[in-house]
Amino acid sequence: MNKIATVVEWLRTSKKTIVLTGAGMSTESGVPDFRSASGWWTKTDPQQVATVDAMNSNYPLFHEFYSMRINLLEKCSPHEGHIILAQWEKKGIIHRIATQNVDGFHLQAGNKKVDELHGSIYTFRCKNCGKSATKEAFLNREVCVCGGKLRPNVVLFGESLPEETWMRAIANIKSAELVIVIGTSLEVYPVNQLPMMTNGKTVYINKDIAQHSSYFDCIVQGKAKETLIEINNLLTK
Ligand code: APR
Repeated sequence: MNKIATVVEWLRTSKKTIVLTGAGMSTESGVPDFRSASGWWTKTDPQQVATVDAMNSNYPLFHEFYSMRINLLEKCSPHEGHIILAQWEKKGIIHRIATQNVDGFHLQAGNKKVDELHGSIYTFRCKNCGKSATKEAFLNREVCVCGGKLRPNVVLFGESLPEETWMRAIANIKSAELVIVIGTSLEVYPVNQLPMMTNGKTVYINKDIAQHSSYFDCIVQGKAKETLIEINNLLTK
């Protein structure tokens, strides 16, 4: 049986399927990923923009990086692959999505059960007192009433993941019969530990599969949108 047919078979028989996505899920929407040749980290050093120390010691560069990503995202939208995952949730084909992406595209596409493991770039808070703030206030470089500067609610390197969200993702992965991992290099701890936590079958859909050819039960080398369309066409035949 070919790999697409295998994934379809597993989707049909699994009573609980969890999808784990990374930045490769959004590149076909025009959003760069991080570690591919055209990724953010090939142009910008994450240590300079995506750590708490960078935020505190070089706020202008930190603010410029996240403002630029926010402005880019406003010109991008979920693609057909995101829409298919939303349809699959509605039909009960998948149980939940855990994502490393902060772009909110799964929610925009219509998924309701989404765990944003690395937070969201669409909500903001004061980095000193934690008081919530608006996107406009952040983009306009306003400061909090306490005098603190504003930041997006994304998880920076070295910060812990939102506890409840993380624990829920672990519980769901552990009890899943099928875990489908899409568009992630699995380079970043602790999310890269999730696929190993399940007793269910594991599928890896990725453009570059060199690093993880051993672990997964089924590996589909390909683009997220194209592959999800192919799977969906066979699934809904
Ligand atoms: N279809 C499938 N896979 C793709 C596509 C695509 N259209 N485009 C890129 N990819 C693959 C790349 O080959 C790469 O293996 O997606 C993966 C993206 O990996 P990263 O750029 O490392 O992104 P991700 O795994 O989500 O990074 C995790 O790192 O910097 C932090 O917080 C950031 O959440 C991010 C985390």
